[in-house]
Amino acid sequence: MKLAIFPGDGVGPEVTAQARRVLERIDLPGLTIFEGDVGAAAFRRQGHPLPAETIAMAQAADAVLFGAVGDPECDRLERSLRPEQAILGLRQELGLFANLRPASVFAGLEDLSALRPEIARSIDLLIVRELGGDVYFGAKGIDKRADGEREGWDRMAYSEHEVRRIAHVAFRAASGRNRRLTSVDKANVLETSQLWREVMIEVAGEYPDVALDHLYVDNAAMQLVRAPGQFDVIVTGNLFGDILSDQASACVGSIGLLPSAALGERQTAHGTFGLYEPIHGSAPDIAGTGKANPLAAILSAAMLVRHSFSRESEAARIERAVAGTLAAGLRGADLGGHDGTQAVGDAVLARL
Ligand code: NAD
Ligand code: IPM
Ligand code: MN
Repeated sequence: MKLAIFPGDGVGPEVTAQARRVLERIDLPGLTIFEGDVGAAAFRRQGHPLPAETIAMAQAADAVLFGAVGDPECDRLERSLRPEQAILGLRQELGLFANLRPASVFAGLEDLSALRPEIARSIDLLIVRELGGDVYFGAKGIDKRADGEREGWDRMAYSEHEVRRIAHVAFRAASGRNRRLTSVDKANVLETSQLWREVMIEVAGEYPDVALDHLYVDNAAMQLVRAPGQFDVIVTGNLFGDILSDQASACVGSIGLLPSAALGERQTAHGTFGLYEPIHGSAPDIAGTGKANPLAAILSAAMLVRHSFSRESEAARIERAVAGTLAAGLRGADLGGHDGTQAVGDAVLARL
């Protein structure tokens, strides 16, 4: 089992170090770990945020564990050299179009949600975010018009096959859960969303056991804080999924708790190839303070073990150890406590 770890910037190395300890502790025979450079760290060492050797390392692996990229000092670089291009480039190079972002409230954390506890308790949802298209990967630019005015623009587009393949991922996920799928779009304004909705309805015909409904994204954002318990699986485009998943994390308690899996079509000898990362970024405001919550990274490692190494029992063991750690009262600063990154990692390891 070959695993590539790309720690990246800011809190990325701090949280992936804890996830690595967890992966080394559980029973994964023949696990080999390689570490590679991404983001501002890679730019400083090698002159590019996504060096060719990092891409090659990912392609040779069965799975990638990713920390985070982003550095305020790099925000004025030309776009192709910015740290964020590392994660966007990996998703594209590796054909990772399906992003699973589960969100549910851990027992004992109901009071730490941004929502009232009785509302928070009901949250058990999965966001299926399309990851390979939308306004993220279209042409873009800042042009000077004839009248001297500058104009910024980004092309938003989805082709039929891109919507169809993410629809199948979402319907299959809903079939294995509570068989309710909500497609989130902005079809009242955007033609991209009109096609999205039409294709979702077409694919629904193949999944008679799943109930499909549609929400406009503004309403979805409102429903997510008003009554999040109504959602089982949400499927949405790249941009809306990015925004709604950060919002879901605050409903659960902290962005330091939400993991993700980016999957494509490639199968390896051990499972589905994938890239796993917390949904949060490099958190420059707390980097180096030892305060970052490593649980999103550790839960990402659990998803990795489940999908890419096909070890359901070991994945569930990690998730139980995380739940147990929280139930025992360990809390980082993001959850109103004082336990640091290392202490939380130690507690999870002790439970394993
Ligand atoms: P962020 O997710 O890094 O941080 C948002 C807030 O959440 C900050 O207050 C931060 O301290 C807090 N936070 C994040 N992770 C935490 C953790 N594990 N424990 C405790 N608190 C945590 O988002 P941002 O500030 O908008 O972006 C910072 C940089 O990260 C930017 O350069 C951005 O582009 C990048 N980014 C990268 C990724 C990625 O690598 N996948 C994801 C999001 C943002
Ligand atoms: C995420 C991040 C990335 C995204 C950025 C860093 C490119 O916000 O993974 O949620 O927008 O996809
Ligand atoms: Mn994001």
